[in-house]
Amino acid sequence: MDVDAFKAPAGKLVDTIAGQKAFVPDPLPPDLDLSPIQQLLSDADQKLGELRGIGRYLPNPYLLIRPLQRKEAIASSNIEGTYTSLPELLLFESSPKDEPATTDTREVFNYTRALQIGITRLEDIPISNRLIRELHQDLLAKLPSHRSGHHVPGEYRREQNFIGRSKDISKSRFNPPPPPLHLECMNALELFINKDDMANITPLVFIAMIHYQFETIHPFPDGNGRVGRILIPLILHSRKILDQPLLYMSQYFEDNRDEYVDIMLSVSQQSFWMNWIRFFLKGVLHSCEKTIETIHRVRELQDAYYRKCHTARSSALLLKIIDHVFERIVVTVPRIRELTQTSYTAAQNNVNKLVEYGILSESTSSRRPKYYFATELLDIFGA
Ligand SMILES: Nc1ncnc2c1ncn2[C@@H]1O[C@H](COP(=O)(O)OP(=O)(O)O)[C@@H](O)[C@H]1O
Ligand SMILES: [Mg+2]
Repeated sequence: MDVDAFKAPAGKLVDTIAGQKAFVPDPLPPDLDLSPIQQLLSDADQKLGELRGIGRYLPNPYLLIRPLQRKEAIASSNIEGTYTSLPELLLFESSPKDEPATTDTREVFNYTRALQIGITRLEDIPISNRLIRELHQDLLAKLPSHRSGHHVPGEYRREQNFIGRSKDISKSRFNPPPPPLHLECMNALELFINKDDMANITPLVFIAMIHYQFETIHPFPDGNGRVGRILIPLILHSRKILDQPLLYMSQYFEDNRDEYVDIMLSVSQQSFWMNWIRFFLKGVLHSCEKTIETIHRVRELQDAYYRKCHTARSSALLLKIIDHVFERIVVTVPRIRELTQTSYTAAQNNVNKLVEYGILSESTSSRRPKYYFATELLDIFGA
């Protein structure tokens, strides 16, 4: 780690292993004058308000939340070099007993589970060290041990770690706080996250600060990026900033990956907090716009599909199947049969109708039962 680059650090440098220094961030919040970014702050707040408003009137929000969360899992894992596609993930989810095609798919699947479980857990416990460790455990469950750095999932690290391409700490880009200081930092962060008055900071700035702080503490040997990004929708949810978990930012971080990590480093080195907050708020604005656009496109498609079925005088069952298709994107005849409580033939007939209307397409895979994809929906979610 280049100690000379820490010209005006947002924390202090302390001694660590191999004669190196490590960075310990100051507790939040930093003392900032936010007036230069008032406009951006109010634009981001307004967009978030728009998304909140749309979310409130969605007849079935789950229908959007489900695919949005899968996209988020894919994008967030992508940042770490773990790749799977939406169809692959959906296929794996429809047959969880099968071994996944790749470990990556399992890892992305774990991400969606961690996100969902996290949101449910908020009913019982606050965002805390305990919850954060649980998220990590869900994220790295059932993976080969090299994927979690041969470390027990759900436990904070016991050693100095570092960020950089080399395996040699003297060539690292950044050294997070050494043990046990990282635990002290996490305790202070836990207190901050749960402050009653959010320290008089607007919610989005509050979340931006927390994300930087968590990544800088880097409490786990691996999985810090993903756990830190899962915390963003969790805080939005627990602080009731959004009623529905509709805002996901990982695609933005992935699209601006270098800036994302460089700006965080520059906060540590030179206290460039405003750059980070600006970058984060732009991300909120951009991600809200994207989600709003997606919601409109999905709803238009849904209306178009309903109209098709109405003109064809189809049964009410077909409309129910369409809703299911929107939620799942990939379906099978046995699943439709279960949903509609009909015979296999009736279910197959309904699926055939949807294929005829161009709503479903049969998958080319040789898997049994046969899978049908809603291709236009996949297009909307960018798969
Ligand atoms: N200089 C830095 N300062 C703080 N955080 C950083 C820095 N560089 C990268 N990061 C964060 O660390 C993450 C990678 O850490 P890692 O533990 O490997 O997470 P994961 O396994 O989820 O990739 C990045 O996604 C980013 O969020
Ligand atoms: Mg990693």
